Order: sequence, then C-alpha cells, then structure tokens
Amino acid sequence: MALLLGDTVPDFTQDSQLGPISFYDWAGDSWVVLFSHPADYTPVCTTELGEVSRLRPEWEKRNVKTIALSVDTAESHKGWINDINETQHTNVDYPILADADKKVSDLYTLIHPNALNNLTVRSVFIIDPNKKLRLQITYPASTGRNFDEILRVIDSLQLTEYHQVATPVNWKDGDDVVVVPSISTEDARAKFPKGVTEIKPYLRTTPQPNK
Ligand code: BEZ
Repeated sequence: MALLLGDTVPDFTQDSQLGPISFYDWAGDSWVVLFSHPADYTPVCTTELGEVSRLRPEWEKRNVKTIALSVDTAESHKGWINDINETQHTNVDYPILADADKKVSDLYTLIHPNALNNLTVRSVFIIDPNKKLRLQITYPASTGRNFDEILRVIDSLQLTEYHQVATPVNWKDGDDVVVVPSISTEDARAKFPKGVTEIKPYLRTTPQPNK
C-alpha cells in the first residue's frame, strides 16, 4: 500500500555506490530527503542530482541528509557520478541507492507502471527524525524538480515543529508566518514577543520567530 503522510516509513538495507545503506541507522536523527529518478545517464536526472549536491550547505543548515534512488546498479551510479560532477561542476557525495532488485521501490511505491514501465518515477519524500513521512510529491519523468521548493517546505515543517507556527501562501524565508489554530491569541501574544496581529480570530500573523 502506498505511504501516506504521517506514516512511519519502512526501514531497509540496500546497496549504493558508497556501499550498503541501512536506512534508519544512516538517517540517525536527521531529517531526510529521499528522492527517486527514472534512470542513470539521463539528462533531467543529471541536472537534478548535481543541484542536490550543490545545495549541500543548505541541507546541512537544516540537519537534512539526502539520498537518491534508481533501479540501476552501484557500478552504473559510479560511472554516471563522474559525468554529473564534470557537467554540473559539483561533487556528488551522498548515496544513490542501487535498487536493481526493486526492494525499496516496492516498499515506497516508486514504480507507477502506467506512467513509466519498470522504472522509478520522480518522487521526493521528506522524512522527519522520527521516521515519519512529512511530504511526498511525484513529478513526471520529463519535469525536473525544484529543490528550492523542497528546502522551502523543510523550513516550513521545521517552523511548525519547533516554533508552532504555519506558513501562508507563497511564504518565503523571512516573511511573516501564521499562528497555528491550536494556540489562543492570548497565548500567542505571550509566546511571540515580536507581536501578533489578529486579522480574524482564526487568522493571526507574527514575524518569523527564528529570524
Ligand atoms: C531524464 O532524466 O532526462 C528523463 C528520464 C526519463 C524520461 C524523460 C527524461
């Protein structure tokens, strides 16, 4: 059955170009971005894996580990990584799972046969340190993902997790945020010393607390 938001994601051990990965042990208490791509040596995937590598400082700032997956072999990944590094001017240092036996693909429902026969679709999962699934987006094979948006969602999830605020439409880092409905306006005024604006009793904004 497909994973749903809030589910505990399954653990697995699978090969990668860096050797076997035991997922829970590897993740530790970090947030994780696990993303699948259709195949090695393909153009869109080459740009995506390069971008994830270039964004390393942004992942580290947020305590996020990244891990990619396709149904190619570890040897194939190694050869392709040379091309990614050369063409995308980076150094891919994170694991790419070699899911040739489709073990992880089956666990995470990464093969959508009516879209792409026998290859993994372009899915991305954000998993929190408790191994709960917090976001899943699936893109068509021909559309490269926007990893700035993935970072934006991680910022939003972490603001909710650590500061009890939510983020409104088109929110960007540094914009005002909204107080979650479970906090009364009175409690919000005590909790957020930068001030709370009550537009409606259910719509309260406050400056981003961690800025
Ligand atoms: C790509 O990564 O470039 C790609 C993969 C499968 C279908 C279309 C594009």
